[in-house]
Amino acid sequence: ADALKIGIAGLGTVGASLVRIVQERQEMLATTCGRAIEIVAVAARDRNRDRGVDLSKAAWYDNAVALASEADIDVFVELMGGAGGPAHASVKSALNRGIHVVTANKALLSAHGIELAGIAEERGALLNYEAAVAGGIPVIKALRESMTGNSISRVYGIMNGTCNYILTQMEKEGLSFEDCLKEAQRLGYAEADPAFDIEGNDTAHKLSILTSLAFGTAIAADDIYLEGITNISIEDIHAAADLGYRIKLLGVAQRTESGIEQRVHPTMVPYESVIAQVDGVTNAVAIESDILGELLMVGPGAGGNATASAVLGDIADIAKSRPGAQHVPAFGRPAAALLPYKRARMR
Ligand code: HSE
Repeated sequence: ADALKIGIAGLGTVGASLVRIVQERQEMLATTCGRAIEIVAVAARDRNRDRGVDLSKAAWYDNAVALASEADIDVFVELMGGAGGPAHASVKSALNRGIHVVTANKALLSAHGIELAGIAEERGALLNYEAAVAGGIPVIKALRESMTGNSISRVYGIMNGTCNYILTQMEKEGLSFEDCLKEAQRLGYAEADPAFDIEGNDTAHKLSILTSLAFGTAIAADDIYLEGITNISIEDIHAAADLGYRIKLLGVAQRTESGIEQRVHPTMVPYESVIAQVDGVTNAVAIESDILGELLMVGPGAGGNATASAVLGDIADIAKSRPGAQHVPAFGRPAAALLPYKRARMR
């Protein structure tokens, strides 16, 4: 089979990891996918920055939209971030050309996911975004594919590696909030604007995507009760520990009699629970459903390699898909068949 030609927009922590892995594992990927994966085009702001990877064989674009709308590619991989602007415009133009899209961009999907899913379906393109929620944990695949037919009652978890890293380091190393945040930034976990992490918006973006997948409803990112971790002090953490709890930033979405409830806030979780033991940049997602029962997935939630691993899985799915095969709709069911979102009455 012909090589799968991919174009990557955004060469930050995740983009550089992805390029390195694809190059180092060429043979392995060609075998498992049944065809080679070739990076034929890249776009980023600064051409001269040393990213420790060889980009000499890829066409360089200064502009992601130009790459998405002109390059001869099979898959457009969007790793720029940002809810609007070039990320939105470039994903849209790729999908409009019928080009498959892989993105790690939770902010984009939270704001425009249903619109983009609609275009993808119209054009027969795939929209894959495993890396957008809980990093390397295959939660999108679980909800979208593996758990098809289950009725889901609740989805919750630790979905921001930066916050969990900060809370863990404050407790275990006695470091200040600011120092922990700086370290999370240095390790490449934090958002370009870390306010999105610590104020809970990033968790809310991810939760809104899971809510749509879990309950078959349109994304309702504005209907989330939101409280970040900026007010959590070391005294709070110790007081919780004295009572037998740890503090975790949780995102929770659940079905209630009056509608769907979505919230993000610091939560006291009992010390002996599995979720209380999830430390550092690790994420955890729990899904409660009627056929399967309770599923809990724990794994790396942020960072270049963990995120690139999920992006690569999405690319491999496309490489293995056959022309004319029935596509998995981006949000589990066709965009036009998503139910209206109905919020729960506040309790
Ligand atoms: N800033 C995010 C986090 C990156 O810390 O979880 C992964 O989405």
